Amino acid sequence: MTAAVGSEIVTLTSFADAKDAYRSRDLRQSLYDEGEVVMADVLVNLHGAEHRDRRRVENTLFRRDVFERYERDLFPGVTARTLAPYIEAGGVDLVHLGHELMLNLAALTAGVDRPEGTAEETARLYAYMMRFIEGATLAHSTGDKVAQAAAVAQALEDWDTEFLAPSIARRRALPADEQPRDVLSTLLQNQDKLQLPHHVVRREVAFFLLAGGHTSATAFVRAIDHMLGWFEARPGQERRADDPLFVQRCIHETVRLNPSSPTGRRRALAPVRLRSGIEIPEGATVVIDLQAVNRDVTLFGPDAAEFDPDRVLPPGVAPFGLSFAAGMHVCIGQDLAAGVVARPDTDPDSHLYGLVTGAVGQMFAAGVRRDPANPPQRDAATARPYWGSYPVLLGGNR
Ligand code: HEM
Repeated sequence: MTAAVGSEIVTLTSFADAKDAYRSRDLRQSLYDEGEVVMADVLVNLHGAEHRDRRRVENTLFRRDVFERYERDLFPGVTARTLAPYIEAGGVDLVHLGHELMLNLAALTAGVDRPEGTAEETARLYAYMMRFIEGATLAHSTGDKVAQAAAVAQALEDWDTEFLAPSIARRRALPADEQPRDVLSTLLQNQDKLQLPHHVVRREVAFFLLAGGHTSATAFVRAIDHMLGWFEARPGQERRADDPLFVQRCIHETVRLNPSSPTGRRRALAPVRLRSGIEIPEGATVVIDLQAVNRDVTLFGPDAAEFDPDRVLPPGVAPFGLSFAAGMHVCIGQDLAAGVVARPDTDPDSHLYGLVTGAVGQMFAAGVRRDPANPPQRDAATARPYWGSYPVLLGGNR
């Protein structure tokens, strides 16, 4: 295959090709090329030795003992406290709640302190996170991209002054054995190895705030939507929402059907030949069509496009398909968000379910149901399939 360098787009739609491409060292990340304002030089945009060195440092935080602490000790209480006023009020907009909830987690993981602990302070951090999300997904914006990029750059500066600088100062003043387990602290403690300038630390922490917050928040909303629809069509099954292993299967099925980005994207640094024989010329853009890969009927069955938490999977295929990617950039927060995949001999008491599972489980325990007077609306501000608002009722009898 010959083509002018950089002119070709190779779209991959099979599971095997997609996995192969994710694992190729000669295919470089290019999904965020238009989201540079937040995403330049953050982990997911690095390649080769630079990526390996930073990932190695950050992997020391993303370990099972840390996940267990978040899942068992920290997050159930944070979720309950976040939900309480909405249960009291009898309802909430799921889209807002998802982001508020996941922001609380992502701030802990990223290392963004909220010393005041007030609702106003959280609202300000929330507004910054939403701006960063806008910056990272600028390629899909239907608005004025130049003006949006400028607003995002300003937001990064303001957020630094208000939140990041005091968080850095606090960590610098703490002795080594009192450092919190978060990304900021991990980066500061490894400054001798990584030598990151301040603006890179700033973007990396902002990236973790949105990578952890936004993906989990959208999965939260979509999982509840899928589950409500599935239960509606199957009266008598609602009690299964009390079983966290079932809820976790619903999260995995949701993430399979709705990858956080519908495509993965890479650029060929050299000619690449996939095992299937597909040739990728140097400079070509590779589009990994996750939507197609995760709905492959040869793997997931003829009803692959349907939501079915009881689906039986072939060996070697994860229940969430390739929605957490594979290879060097495989999601560092996968187990934190979605837990470990259960097996027939899984012990439900020691199992890691993931934070989205925990939050969705609490919503069903609180009697979540659609609001017949206010149907959900799609978000018109982006070409991506997000919900703009999703009003639900809480409390009372299920
Ligand atoms: C349902 C939730 C989530 C989904 C679907 C998801 C999906 C993904 C995907 C597809 C990638 C790879 C992107 C690519 O290679 O192009 C990725 C990478 C990443 N994710 Fe997640 N993610 C989720 C939750 C989280 C959470 C909770 C965190 C952090 C606490 C996180 C942090 C990251 C980071 C740092 C990377 C970059 C890893 C690297 O480049 O080495 N993610 N995620």
